[in-house]
Amino acid sequence: MIMKETKLLSVRDAEQDKKNIETAANLLRQGGLVAIPTETVYGLGANALNPQAVEAIFTAKGRPQDNPLIIHICQPEQAEQYAREIPSAYYALCRRFSPGPLTVILKKKDIIPPETSGGLDTVAIRIPSHPVARAIIQAAGVPVAAPSANLSGSPSPTTAQHCIHDLWGRVDAIVDAGECSVGLESTVISLAGERPILLRPGAVTPEQLEEVLGPVEIHQAVTGQLEGDGKAASPGMKYKHYSPKAKITILRGSSAQYTAYVNSRKGPGVYALCFEEDIPNLLVPYVSWGSSGSESSQAHRLFAALRELDQQGAQRVYARCPEKSGIGLAVYNRLIRAAAFDEQEAKETF
Ligand code: TXA
Ligand code: MG
Repeated sequence: MIMKETKLLSVRDAEQDKKNIETAANLLRQGGLVAIPTETVYGLGANALNPQAVEAIFTAKGRPQDNPLIIHICQPEQAEQYAREIPSAYYALCRRFSPGPLTVILKKKDIIPPETSGGLDTVAIRIPSHPVARAIIQAAGVPVAAPSANLSGSPSPTTAQHCIHDLWGRVDAIVDAGECSVGLESTVISLAGERPILLRPGAVTPEQLEEVLGPVEIHQAVTGQLEGDGKAASPGMKYKHYSPKAKITILRGSSAQYTAYVNSRKGPGVYALCFEEDIPNLLVPYVSWGSSGSESSQAHRLFAALRELDQQGAQRVYARCPEKSGIGLAVYNRLIRAAAFDEQEAKETF
């Protein structure tokens, strides 16, 4: 592919670094590709209404063309330009969770090109809270289509360094605003059908959604493996995700059971993907990813930890199993994909 000259634009403060915000916004308006920080993960942005610009996202990421993109806007009402038959539930969700880590699927208007919607009749709308994302979208004056700013298949980027690693020379600019606070991609809920259905768990939890909407169906692919093929409600669910080079197994059990099991597997390339409390009892090299009591610390660290394992040359990784409630459901959803659905009990078989 053609190599691009990539600009690195540091924005520590949306007010003070106005010049870099303007540069990023101009590139987006001109049909360029810009990696931008959000509170969830970094996104690879392009003008959502420009089919060529959107196509370039797929090329830069190596992403399958039928996997639709989320469009990012600043205000809830702007959805009316891009979506039709918007139910009142959309505004109810916005009142409670916008701006923030929530994406809502609505029926789309024709102005959204098929390149953006992956040929579907729906459009995914998100209103990010990150001040730098908001400043760039506002200045660009266009809705910004943005998938996570990683190469397709690798862990989502939570720092500008991750974007540089994956996309340097493939995009026009990377905006560096430090670490993302949440660390996992947004919750995706569809309001385009008869009943609300959760397609991807995130920091906005099923319990919180139900407080606003009443009963919410959780798509089977959220905790399990998708059966069948092309009929995925959310096409992203059918692709292999977040796969590090190492083979990962998730181990259920206490810290003591986990460390005993992992220590018994000690050998070349064997690593633990552990919680902080496990460290004192481990006899194998490890990367830690938050603490056992705090699912939000695990969310914050997971993707960076998966990248660190690759960098250290890990080949066989044993991971602690997170709690599956609250934001832990989202953590588990990402980890089980990284582990290609390999989960076991941490029971010794001496
Ligand atoms: O937090 C996030 O959502 C980040 C930041 C950058 O905003 N973006 C992100 O985008 O994670 P991406 O493309 O990596 O994931 C979008 C997910 C995919 O699984 C995709 O299939 C699904 O949302 N999706 C997008 N449009 C959809 C639609 N119209 N119907 C169903 N699923 C859709
Ligand atoms: Mg992604």
